Amino acid sequence: MDSKDTSTAWFENLTRAQALDLRERFGSPVYLYDEATMLRAAKAVLAFPAPFGLSVRYAMKAAPNINILRLFARKGLHFDASSLYEVARLDHAEIPLERISLSSQELGEDFPDWVSRGLKINACSLRQLQEFGRSFPGQSVGLRFNPGLGSGGTNRTNVGGPASSFGIWHAYAEEARARAERFHLKIERIHSHIGSGSDPEVWKRAADLTLRLARLFPTVTTVNLGGGYKVARVPGEKATNLDLAGNAVADLLRQFAEETGRQLRLEIEPGTYLVAKAAAILATVHDVVDTGTDGYRFIKLDAGMTEILRPSLYGAQHPIRILPEATDAPQIDYVVVGHCCESGDILTPAPGDPELLQPRTLPRAQPGDICLIGGAGAYCSAMSAKNYNSYPEAAEVLLREENIAQLIRRRQTLPQIIQNEISVV
Ligand SMILES: Cc1ncc(COP(=O)(O)O)c(C=O)c1O
Repeated sequence: MDSKDTSTAWFENLTRAQALDLRERFGSPVYLYDEATMLRAAKAVLAFPAPFGLSVRYAMKAAPNINILRLFARKGLHFDASSLYEVARLDHAEIPLERISLSSQELGEDFPDWVSRGLKINACSLRQLQEFGRSFPGQSVGLRFNPGLGSGGTNRTNVGGPASSFGIWHAYAEEARARAERFHLKIERIHSHIGSGSDPEVWKRAADLTLRLARLFPTVTTVNLGGGYKVARVPGEKATNLDLAGNAVADLLRQFAEETGRQLRLEIEPGTYLVAKAAAILATVHDVVDTGTDGYRFIKLDAGMTEILRPSLYGAQHPIRILPEATDAPQIDYVVVGHCCESGDILTPAPGDPELLQPRTLPRAQPGDICLIGGAGAYCSAMSAKNYNSYPEAAEVLLREENIAQLIRRRQTLPQIIQNEISVV
């Protein structure tokens, strides 16, 4: 987010007394989602510059709780789904299928039923295009392209360029056109998404390449540039300035209109931007150990990769607060680790290097202290090493106006973890 953004204040200002109260009511660990921060982010993305109309789709893979979906739906957002299961979840939230677009690695056998009910699809491979054509000759469809370059916060979140399987490789645009013609399909939308946490400069170049692809398909009325807007979770991280990125694209769209006479509607699909800074994990310190004078001091939490995988996976940096009883607790360097029996379960890796420990200076911690892990709204609850070591999925709580906190997902129980096992031995 840009420098005007103040959306981490709720996290930074959460007091020990408030945190203790939340733990008392909802247990530990628990995800806390700040409604006001999500609504502010929604307002910011809805102001994205677009000269010929804008639709913002929430990439629900970032955080799919029904309440988050409904909050954004009420604000007028549309939705990006990445599987038919996500589509079914949106349907369950009573979000009209006309507001949902599916861009999936796996089309799913029952996609025709959903399309018949109004779902929009971006064909993400030539094969998907063919399958769509067979089921719906003569109808409208979008095409997801890999524009030939990508950019993500890390290689793992880069989904463009030759090392990525996402979307139709740009050089096969003619082949895509031929297949579409075979089934009399109308290509209504060109889509690209090059990665999460993209470099804004690369993102702009990808936007340009995507518009070049749109030129090849005269029936296209909408261009979708995916998500990927960077947020700064910790000081020093760069964030995408939406105005700058948007204005650059608006110029490209105007130029396109001048040259072709076609005014393209813009779609964007942010996930991270809408929720990343709106959530924190409230966890509890349950042990403090060290490995001698030449070693490290470790804070062990009752949460870890079962709630937040990003540090172990990408070396992602998340703000961490310890809320000790003593207000004058001395500052100490700690490595913060999770509760899983897995050496990779660390919350303080070096930036971009999950293998390297990077101690953080934090107030002296004692068992029982509260630890808050910030920036945990996107790809945390949704993308964790769920149930590893048989730890239950944590509860989720929505922090609303006037200090109202409401449970929006119960903590999982052991019977729920094992309910699908069949005992045959
Ligand atoms: C097709 C598509 N659109 C949008 C997004 C959202 O990206 P971000 O969370 O970086 O905004 C993703 C993320 O993987 C995606 O795959």
